[in-house]
Amino acid sequence: AKVTFITEDGNSHLIEDAEGSLMDIAVDNGIEGIEGDCGGVGSCATCHVRVKQEWMEKVGKAEELEQDILEFEDGTCSRSRLCCQIDVDEDLDGLVVEVAKLG
Ligand code: FES
Repeated sequence: AKVTFITEDGNSHLIEDAEGSLMDIAVDNGIEGIEGDCGGVGSCATCHVRVKQEWMEKVGKAEELEQDILEFEDGTCSRSRLCCQIDVDEDLDGLVVEVAKLG
């Protein structure tokens, strides 16, 4: 699937043939602002992204536990997700996320 990260500097980074954890995809491609410090277990919030509105329905909102962690981050909104909790497959082809400012 193709996914696009919009980094804080406003640049778009299109990744082709993306599959699996969106955090791993970001880290493997050196996307600025995605650290993935906890290795993808959903506890560090260094993989915070905001999902583009038009993708929210498909991606879904953060679950309660994830929301609790996001609460401590700056720049969270109703579109915020920990991208290690987003599994990319062909269903998400074309996905666009904004890399949130780190708190
Ligand atoms: Fe740590 Fe996602 S990589 S919360």
